[in-house]
Amino acid sequence: MSDLAIRDLRKTYRTKGRPEVHAVRGFDLEVDSGELVGLLGPSGCGKSTTLRMIAGLEDATSGDIRVGSSSVVGLPPQRRNIGVAFENYALYPPLSVSENIAFGLRARGKGDRKKRVADVAHRIGLTDILDATPVGLSSGQKQRVALARAIVRRPDVLLLDEPLSHLDAGQRDTTRRELRHLQQELGYTTILVIHDQEEALSLADRVVVMNDGVVQQVGTPDEIYDDPMNLFVARFVGEPPMNLLDGAHQADGTVRLSTETRVAVGDVPDAVGPVVLGVRPEDVVLAGEADADVSGVVVVYENLLEHGLLTVELPGAEERIVAQTAPGLGLEPGREVSLALRRDRTYLFSAETGRRVR
Ligand SMILES: Nc1ncnc2c1ncn2[C@@H]1O[C@H](COP(=O)(O)OP(=O)(O)OP(=O)(O)O)[C@@H](O)[C@H]1O
Ligand SMILES: [Mg+2]
Repeated sequence: MSDLAIRDLRKTYRTKGRPEVHAVRGFDLEVDSGELVGLLGPSGCGKSTTLRMIAGLEDATSGDIRVGSSSVVGLPPQRRNIGVAFENYALYPPLSVSENIAFGLRARGKGDRKKRVADVAHRIGLTDILDATPVGLSSGQKQRVALARAIVRRPDVLLLDEPLSHLDAGQRDTTRRELRHLQQELGYTTILVIHDQEEALSLADRVVVMNDGVVQQVGTPDEIYDDPMNLFVARFVGEPPMNLLDGAHQADGTVRLSTETRVAVGDVPDAVGPVVLGVRPEDVVLAGEADADVSGVVVVYENLLEHGLLTVELPGAEERIVAQTAPGLGLEPGREVSLALRRDRTYLFSAETGRRVR
């Protein structure tokens, strides 16, 4: 399959009498042949617009899109050989499920077409409804038909925008696994938008985090999680979210969260001044007083079966800190606790630019 290269892609919507919308403001990405890239970002950040421009369903305002060695800018969708499955499945009501899947399939013989449709239908769990028409199908079934239709054409590039959103949890699990399997087996170069970030991180070879029309970071799921480049990525990725505590980096290598609370972080070149100290809840641990970085008072302890979530108020500090602990600790509100932050798992961001300074 082909690789995909996108350079400085932009989209500005201009509607008379309304302010311009800069939906995509310079999107750069190279996707290797056979790679699955997950596109993550908040609602309205430009994910669908980006995919629609790659597919040719929307004209780009500027920028270049190359599939393999040639640019597809200006080509109509049907000449791009890009398979798409978007949230609204757009099936043809008079055609049966199998005819919908086979639609636009330019396989040679009738037998070959039938075999390909049957194979994909089997993998996506549609065998029993191949003769039905879309009218009576559930939205989850319709969505799987649209997915099968995109896959069966053996496109150079596969673009999937929330392709599993209408499926229930069980179906979504199996379909997701089958999708990944097919994608790897057939070597499809794929970009996938999934709302659920845990799903995206578990499926994708690499992840693109986007905000407000701009790519924030591109990396493997581990890089995005362990090495966020800015405050946006740090805040957006991870559940429960990273603790982000406002403070001031001092010349003595501490971050002052308040007059009463300081955390030793060591030297950071150029970081003296306002910073945001980041640490994930799983890297905040209950400690003896001697090993503690901070002490505070329990606000609430939530027992969530697999672990506990402990929220602690630090004296004088604006934000509370959350620690992920063992389950069943039964810590009462008001009780004093001491916490240690895993030093190699703390992050510092510039409060001014949001950029990571360590
Ligand atoms: N046809 C249009 N005309 C004007 N503005 C549009 C049009 N389509 C999208 N937009 C705007 O462009 C921005 C990006 O929209 P887009 O649909 O790409 O976001 P998204 O990341 O896919 O969001 P979601 O997660 O909700 O699907 C939004 O501000 C949206 O309102
Ligand atoms: Mg969208």
